[in-house]
Amino acid sequence: MCGIVGFAGIKNSKEAVLNGLRKLEYRGYDSAGIAISSSDNVLSIFKDKGRVEHLEEIITKDLDGPLAIGHTRWATHGKPNKINAHPHISNNKRFIIVHNGVIDNYKELKYTKLSGFNFYSETDTEVIVNLIEYYSRKYDVSSSIRITATKLEGSYSCLIIDKETPDKIYVLKNKTPLLIGCGEKGNIIASDVIPLIGYATKYTNLEDQVFGIVTKDSVSITDYLGNKLEYNVNQVSVNDEEITLGRYPHYMLKEIEEQPDVIRRLISKYFDGENIIINKDLVSMFKSINKINFVAAGTSMYASLMGKYFFEKLCRIPSEVLQSSELVYSSPLIKDVPLFIFLSQSGETADSIAVLKKVKESGYPTLLITNNIGSTMASISDYCLDIYAGPEISVASTKAYVAQVVTMSILAKAVSGSITKLKNHLKSLAKKTEEILGKKVIIKGLADQIKDAKAVFYIGRGIDYWASLESALKLKEISYIHTEAFSSGELKHGTIALIEENVPVIAICTQEGTNGIVRSNLIETEARGAKSFVISMESLSQSSDSFIIPNVSHYLTPLLTVVVTQLLAYYTAVNKNLDIDKPRNLAKSVTVE
Ligand code: AGP
Ligand code: GLU
Repeated sequence: MCGIVGFAGIKNSKEAVLNGLRKLEYRGYDSAGIAISSSDNVLSIFKDKGRVEHLEEIITKDLDGPLAIGHTRWATHGKPNKINAHPHISNNKRFIIVHNGVIDNYKELKYTKLSGFNFYSETDTEVIVNLIEYYSRKYDVSSSIRITATKLEGSYSCLIIDKETPDKIYVLKNKTPLLIGCGEKGNIIASDVIPLIGYATKYTNLEDQVFGIVTKDSVSITDYLGNKLEYNVNQVSVNDEEITLGRYPHYMLKEIEEQPDVIRRLISKYFDGENIIINKDLVSMFKSINKINFVAAGTSMYASLMGKYFFEKLCRIPSEVLQSSELVYSSPLIKDVPLFIFLSQSGETADSIAVLKKVKESGYPTLLITNNIGSTMASISDYCLDIYAGPEISVASTKAYVAQVVTMSILAKAVSGSITKLKNHLKSLAKKTEEILGKKVIIKGLADQIKDAKAVFYIGRGIDYWASLESALKLKEISYIHTEAFSSGELKHGTIALIEENVPVIAICTQEGTNGIVRSNLIETEARGAKSFVISMESLSQSSDSFIIPNVSHYLTPLLTVVVTQLLAYYTAVNKNLDIDKPRNLAKSVTVE
């Protein structure tokens, strides 16, 4: 996944790159590295295992210069250690590279064309930089990089420095994101828009298979044959305030607390008075389809389950939720006339991008619901709906789930054409979310009771089961407690064998039709020693329940349930003193398949 940043300016490139890397750390934090070219063109490289904070400590004090490239790594090939950390350097030490992506044919290249080269790291990246050296024996630098690109299979965003042309950063882009921002202090290149804040007001989002040359005052983009390309220009719309931690100890807590505002923002964006304002073409396109296939990963996939629910209940359109990582390598039998709805907070998830491309090639209509309308997926899909959640920095997704589900509820209402009280329901949802946020102390108390558990189970049925899936993902990814969600009816078919003395089982009971049966399934686990907890809705609650969410339309209960379980995950991880915003082994954008 990795984050890369490059800066070509008059001075202070180190600061620009380090500042950018700090903001990109959510993309990976196994190691960090930087190459800095000083004003007299001396190139220095610093890299090590660990975070950008550590990188800053090992860089020679007062060293800076007009040009630098940097990297924060999520290892795909080779351990997270100093040798594998980027930048990597060619055998003759002329070329220096940072790379985000995976080169699928790196072994083949290593053992054929590059058989005479030495390799010091276990990365696939070293192949790229040595291949450039290989071609530079015959061609100029630009041609060597472009020819190299034609030999690579896989995904790559690369920034390359050539010691012989030290005022330039060479750029390659295929399948992983890369943006170039132009500013008065110089030009900046980065994996996403956040490092551009303060350096550029406009940027271009590079297409796949392009080569670029960036200097302090110029940007040129070509294809791999060297033909000049026109490029899009977008406005940097994020501001510094949105991405600063402020009074919060962690981004996760900040983002959980932002959820009422996110709901209100969606109301203001998608309602005009009582009318829903969504692209008319998009709404009428639903008349031409008879099936919806939702495609997503992780939290976005669990949010999709609510999309299925809304479209089946409100619009009577049969819907299915498909995992993008599975769909990349399979071809489902399609007999209906489907619309594919992709959900992706980042719009940059590699599996989802791959499926989106396949679906487009097959000619089916596509809609993306995303928090990043400048993303790769947004540029490919036919239609796009913004979830207006604002930047989500914590690796654990919280407000994006709520924003995705609310957006789908509005879309489904618009498609159903029925008179709607949805706006009032959503207004009241925002208020009730605030009520839950006001009861954090109860949730902290629950977290104290599960912090030492080796395993936790969430159970529910129907949409409570779907909320359980998202709740379990949150708890496991930041507290490292093995947590699974089960539909409570399925327990007796095997899983109940795992229940032993004091294993926490958390039942979610917000639906009238299933409340009774889920509670009796919970009693079955209690009989086998489980420590039971119930999260219920007020109208169905019992005095012994662990947390009671306020009454809300039965369609929307997961939007309140997850606020409780997000906080439960958060406080459990706080109790265990873990790195909440950057949990181990993870990265925010999964830009490799
Ligand atoms: C969950 O908290 C996330 N860590 C992860 O599952 C995420 O939802 C998934 O990678 C999908 O990302 P996307 O929405 O950006 O496509
Ligand atoms: N494949 C490279 C490495 O492992 C880059 C990793 C990435 O972008 O995720 O170092």
